[in-house]
Amino acid sequence: MTAAPANPSAPSAPSAPSAPSETDTATSKAGDPVFSVRNLWKVFGPKAGRVPGDTSLTGLSAAEVRERTGCTAAVRDVSFDVARGEVFVVMGLSGSGKSTLVRCLTRLIEPTAGTLHIDGEDVLAMDRARLRELRRTRAAMVFQHFGLLPHRTVTDNVAYGLEIQGMGRAERRARAAEMIDKVGLTGLGGRRPGQLSGGQQQRVGLARALAVDPEVLLFDEPFSALDPLIRRDMQEEVIRLHREEGRTMVFITHDLSEALRIGDRIALMRDGEIVQLGTPEEIVAAPADDYVRDFVRDVPREQVISVRRAMRPALAGEAGTGVALAPGTVVAEAIEAVARSGEHVRVVEDGRTLGVVDHARLLAVVAGLDPDTDTGTEPDAGTDPGGSHTTGGEVAAV
Ligand SMILES: Nc1ncnc2c1ncn2[C@@H]1O[C@H](COP(=O)(O)OP(=O)(O)O)[C@@H](O)[C@H]1O
Ligand SMILES: [Mg+2]
Repeated sequence: MTAAPANPSAPSAPSAPSAPSETDTATSKAGDPVFSVRNLWKVFGPKAGRVPGDTSLTGLSAAEVRERTGCTAAVRDVSFDVARGEVFVVMGLSGSGKSTLVRCLTRLIEPTAGTLHIDGEDVLAMDRARLRELRRTRAAMVFQHFGLLPHRTVTDNVAYGLEIQGMGRAERRARAAEMIDKVGLTGLGGRRPGQLSGGQQQRVGLARALAVDPEVLLFDEPFSALDPLIRRDMQEEVIRLHREEGRTMVFITHDLSEALRIGDRIALMRDGEIVQLGTPEEIVAAPADDYVRDFVRDVPREQVISVRRAMRPALAGEAGTGVALAPGTVVAEAIEAVARSGEHVRVVEDGRTLGVVDHARLLAVVAGLDPDTDTGTEPDAGTDPGGSHTTGGEVAAV
């Protein structure tokens, strides 16, 4: 897992494994955000506008609000920043408000209340022309059902946004050909969408979005309709694009493993609200509540949790021996190193040993017994906030 590049002026730099942030706030730290969303509401239904301001309603569940008012509060008081160059995932079950939220970002759905900025510009104050430009060139959307024009060739589908912009035929076809190569469809430019597999059609959708060179790509469950293996391919495609171009992405999914695989940060939604916002590691290692804990219960923790979180202080003599791993290394890799060498490994940053992980620490992570600690100092016996791991203290106290 990677964090957003720290330097927004170098968006093409591959995002290196780095320490997860320990804060769990709406704001990101890397430079000026692309999107900045504060207290955003979308309420559907009669007199929707009165719901966000009504304190007798804001504390209620979505079902209670519906019962009282006949309104559906699809997005409720949501705040977050999308940092430049990050893959920001919005995850939640069907009906949790994900599509409504991502459509609010470009006002395909008009928010009911709150503020919304892109690059510091007030999206809610944009006139029609400015909005059109936002959707066409700054924030391109990739949809679940591709949205391709069936009678046009792949090339003309990919070039569609450029055509709308008024780009000349030769230029836009050349640009389309470039995008078709980029998404791995070389040679298929003359086909029609109906002559392509689902995965290939979604690659066309992706190429079409990329063709306008948008500042941010918005994906609404783009791979949900695809077979698992193809889906995996597409996820890797997104990761590759992100790594090579550093493009900012907002990615909606209901699939936790997809979210963990591609997200730099994940906003987990329930009932229109963000219940937790953090790195994959933060969400898996320190779920905000029972709902999130339940959600991440079956995650292979060793593939998400880093040795920085798993380590304990080095004892006398340990700091000088053992294989050295970077703090962002996932536990799965450390297991391999420990299994090979038969001894602990060191967690080293800038030549300094931060701590060590040994068999016991690694097993505790796999077993889900590691307390939420990033320092590994005193084992947090009995301080597990959720209290769900009754034996956590014993095992961690190695
Ligand atoms: N146009 C609409 N009118 C009324 N209710 C809507 C509308 N669009 C979505 N909703 C409701 O808002 C909630 C969130 O929907 P949606 O954003 O589509 O969720 P998700 O994308 O997470 O599945 C659901 O209860 C849905 O029924
Ligand atoms: Mg949806």
